[in-house]
Amino acid sequence: MNHACLLTALGVYTPEHRLTNAELCTMVDTSDEWITSRTGICSRRRLAPEESTATMGLAAAKRALQSSGIQPQDLSHIIVATCTPDKLCPSTACIIAGSLGAPSCMAFDINAACSGYLYGVSLCRSILAGQPDATILFIAAEAMTRRMNWNDRSTCVLFGDGATASIFSATAEQPLAQVRDVLCDADCSLHSLITIGGGAEKELPAGQSIEDDFFLQMQGREVFKHAVRRMAEACKTLLERNGLTIHDIDLLVPHQANMRIIDAVGSRLGIASSKVFANVEQYGNTSAASVPLALAEALQTQVLSHGKRVLCVSFGAGLTWSALLLDF
Ligand code: UT7
Repeated sequence: MNHACLLTALGVYTPEHRLTNAELCTMVDTSDEWITSRTGICSRRRLAPEESTATMGLAAAKRALQSSGIQPQDLSHIIVATCTPDKLCPSTACIIAGSLGAPSCMAFDINAACSGYLYGVSLCRSILAGQPDATILFIAAEAMTRRMNWNDRSTCVLFGDGATASIFSATAEQPLAQVRDVLCDADCSLHSLITIGGGAEKELPAGQSIEDDFFLQMQGREVFKHAVRRMAEACKTLLERNGLTIHDIDLLVPHQANMRIIDAVGSRLGIASSKVFANVEQYGNTSAASVPLALAEALQTQVLSHGKRVLCVSFGAGLTWSALLLDF
């Protein structure tokens, strides 16, 4: 039997500090003109020194639980999508589960970089197919500014911080949306195009200072080309296998990396720009949190409402990409 995968709640947390292009210009050799014309980004959020991926994820989780009426002890799984975990071990999910009062559920992280939310939705769908009684808290949270090299102007202007928490289950009285289909893909021969080091790859004797590869490094121009091509292809494949065309889509919610990428994907798909949701201007690229942050804003501003069919698409390090059909 095929069980439904229902999105029953969506909570959001974004840090207070709005790091504007003007403030960035005091930190790095750049200009508001360059950033806005090349990326469409005007500001991004930066977490406070006492915050972390776990604290942001926890705040988003509390909001999602509150709006759904679900108690922490009712959760069967807590999963966190992040490429900026608090620690290599334990998982950010375990840290959040402990703080939330859900200490005995299955808790673990996944890392598909900017595709983390859509890959995670695919995982939640598989879990619910095997365990229809599961109640999954799925958090997408990133502290990207902690891994910015503030001497590298080609990357540090692009990323921001934020967290979302989604609750998925197979049954719900008034779900926000139903997952209709999701496609996940990758070309891992290109894994070196976007990297964040700091893992156990090499010896790091105590006291040795960190090197540039600790921070995010990206071959932006190369990534740009793959992003546009793969995101458009993934959308077309997913629509086709569901017997749909782009005209059946009410809203396209793409990964928020760069307004030029969003526009290029939209035009390859032949969708009106009025049906493409973007908030990259205010948040920059929040990696795994980007698509659900955009979905939450579209819901809050009533761009998105009951009855709408939504196509989400993401792209990130790996290289990974994914497309998702949601019926609201
Ligand atoms: O979420 C994961 C997916 N990531 C992405 O999708 C990002 C994909 N890539 C991009 O969005 C774009 O490639 C960037 C926004 C990263 C860069 O835009 P670009 O148009 O590809 O610029 P570029 O890297 O080719 O650099 C053009 C020029 C260079 O100067 P020269 O060599 O032409 O003199 C850079 O040094 O712009 C210069 N530059 C800057 N100037 C002012 C690069 N960064 C900056 C900056 N401010 N922040």
